[in-house]
Amino acid sequence: MSDAVTLLPIGRGADDLRFFIRLDGRHAGGITVHSVRPPSFSYGIAVAPALRGRGVARRALKLLFEEMARRGFSFAVVQVAPDNAASLALHDALGFSLVAQDAGSVTLARAVRSTPGVAAAHVSHVTPRPIKEGTHHG
Ligand SMILES: CC(C)(COP(=O)(O)OP(=O)(O)OC[C@H]1O[C@@H](n2cnc3c(N)ncnc32)[C@H](O)[C@@H]1OP(=O)(O)O)[C@@H](O)C(=O)NCCC(=O)NCCS
Repeated sequence: MSDAVTLLPIGRGADDLRFFIRLDGRHAGGITVHSVRPPSFSYGIAVAPALRGRGVARRALKLLFEEMARRGFSFAVVQVAPDNAASLALHDALGFSLVAQDAGSVTLARAVRSTPGVAAAHVSHVTPRPIKEGTHHG
């Protein structure tokens, strides 16, 4: 078993950034990009309970960051519930820094950058089109 993580885009257009996460070609979870405000974007991620704890989210987010950097984005921002230990540890392991914190959420951010060829090799069927501010709201 190669244990390969890939992203399968399932959105309906360049500004609908949703992905299934696949592990060895099997469904393993999903990522939805939201709050797109170039040069920043945010996202939610979930990994199937049976497949957690084996680096799926870590590898999937690295692919997402490569893909978003390739699309011209510079910063990933994520809001995590203060009691979500798994997500806090995941984002700490990925090098995120604390931006803000209140009783309801912890906001974390990090820069993203592109390594030529990396995302393109692991994200299937993605059309490299720039996302323009405001296009999804007419
Ligand atoms: C958070 C979530 C996406 C992590 O997915 P995952 O595939 O299990 O995470 P990974 O295996 O890639 O973990 C990467 C790192 O995160 C940390 N981590 C992940 N789960 C952890 C846990 N339950 N407890 C402590 N640390 C954890 C570890 O540092 C881990 O690195 P290591 O394997 O070297 O120890 C998953 O638990 C999930 O889907 N949770 C429900 C939805 C959710 O809360 N999403 C996040 C919203 S922001």
